[in-house]
Amino acid sequence: MTAARAGAAEAYAARHYRDRFRYGEGTEQILAMLGSVPPVDRWADLGSGAQTLLWAWAVNARTVIAVDTDPQQLHLLHQRASAASLDPVHDTVAHLCGRDPAEFADLCATLTATAWADCLTTPIEHPGLPAASFGLVTQFGLLGLTRDAAHFTTAFTAVHRLAAPSGWVAGANWTARNSAGRVRLSAELYRAAARAADVELTLLERIDSADPDFPSLWIYLGNRRSTP
Ligand SMILES: C[S@@+](CC[C@H](N)C(=O)[O-])C[C@H]1O[C@@H](n2cnc3c(N)ncnc32)[C@H](O)[C@@H]1O
Repeated sequence: MTAARAGAAEAYAARHYRDRFRYGEGTEQILAMLGSVPPVDRWADLGSGAQTLLWAWAVNARTVIAVDTDPQQLHLLHQRASAASLDPVHDTVAHLCGRDPAEFADLCATLTATAWADCLTTPIEHPGLPAASFGLVTQFGLLGLTRDAAHFTTAFTAVHRLAAPSGWVAGANWTARNSAGRVRLSAELYRAAARAADVELTLLERIDSADPDFPSLWIYLGNRRSTP
């Protein structure tokens, strides 16, 4: 791990999530969406970065596994969970989710594993990520990294294959101001990918964001069909 990568992981977290809560950038809507999911036993957060414990305020899960290809992000997440020390942003998120900040240590204890796995190449191969075994599968900012519609659709299918029959899937993807080389997100694309993945979407929404670098995002929630 280079110092530059460590610095980049810190800078990303500080900009988006740590120093203060950034209203108007879609985070409130994502938290509300996650809060509508009933309690689950096992949750997998793919392309987690170091942010799983932020989204965890809104999720009611007994355990969570965080998955990423960046070891520095996973290391940072692991460190934060071990320290269980609240960043200023967590205070606001806890209140937005109707939780007591004192619950943070309990939330940190739900992070039972971090895993290195490439989630944009199919199939996702990791012994801790068997297909059809999670009550909730999330991705925030992962599928927006795909190259084009075909890549988005195959990755969407691979990611959500981890959800159990009738299990929940949820995510958000940002449209970058400079999105050269990235998939163009649209409602049609999500609906086609969901059909291919045997996912029934119950929410699909485009939200404008105050972040000039990421002026909009798409959020979605759904369930894997019990019988394809
Ligand atoms: C935009 S960041 C989002 C991080 C976090 N989920 C959040 O809510 O802020 C995208 C994350 O996806 C990870 N990533 C990129 N390519 C990946 C891949 N092929 N498989 C798994 N994770 C990947 C990156 O390392 C990064 O942590």
